[in-house]
Amino acid sequence: MRTPFIAGNWKMYKTVADAVKYVKELRGLVKDLDAVEVVLAPTFTALFAAAEAARNSNVGIAAQDLHWEREGAFTGEISGQMIREAGATYAIVGHSERRSLFGETDASVNRKVAAAFAAGLCPIACIGETLDQRERNETFDVLDRQITQGLDGLTAEQIGQLVIAYEPVWAIGTGRNATPAQASEAHGHIRSRLRQWFGQEPAELCHVIYGGSVKPENARELLSQPDVDGALVGGASLDVRSFLQIVASARRDEAL
Ligand code: 13P
Repeated sequence: MRTPFIAGNWKMYKTVADAVKYVKELRGLVKDLDAVEVVLAPTFTALFAAAEAARNSNVGIAAQDLHWEREGAFTGEISGQMIREAGATYAIVGHSERRSLFGETDASVNRKVAAAFAAGLCPIACIGETLDQRERNETFDVLDRQITQGLDGLTAEQIGQLVIAYEPVWAIGTGRNATPAQASEAHGHIRSRLRQWFGQEPAELCHVIYGGSVKPENARELLSQPDVDGALVGGASLDVRSFLQIVASARRDEAL
């Protein structure tokens, strides 16, 4: 059984002071929780302080991106080793904002996913179709391409450790979440491809989480879909109480 996985992607929000305050509050609120994996992704500048504030707690810390090289003349970039040293244990890779605004491709996602594993980080690899692609009935083709190219060369063991975030681009920051049926269909497709391409066991171990306008009001229904193992939450993760409600919705016994 996969433990529900709820991650907050803060994007370019929150200062170091904001991040530390939030983490300190959240760690107290989830201190007795072991039925849900809880992860926060602050900006690079807040990573170290957030990880310090989360030390020995149930809150994990993720970077929002990484570079694929260990070190070198790559002005402005941060390596997996540097992220690991700062105390993070996860890295988001290939978020649609990085793809659409900063030229990320399936090829760069593939290098970054491998680099994250090499640095001892668990990648949270993002995939998802645009509205145009959905309307042209290309959703499954897009997901297949993103999986085959983005995850090319990974071992079965790595697939088993991986988190895949299905984030339909049209649902991100729009307030328009995928319906439970749409999420369930896409997640079921992703799981069946993982089974087909990497084998039964890694496909069962891999977390496939949903992202796109997840809120306290829709979390429970989305998270109760069979192949939806958690959520990657943007806007609603900025407020600790609303994030906590989403975490609580992921518990199979609900109360928190
Ligand atoms: P919203 O929850 O704000 O739609 O963002 C989703 C997202 O991009 C998480 O990575």
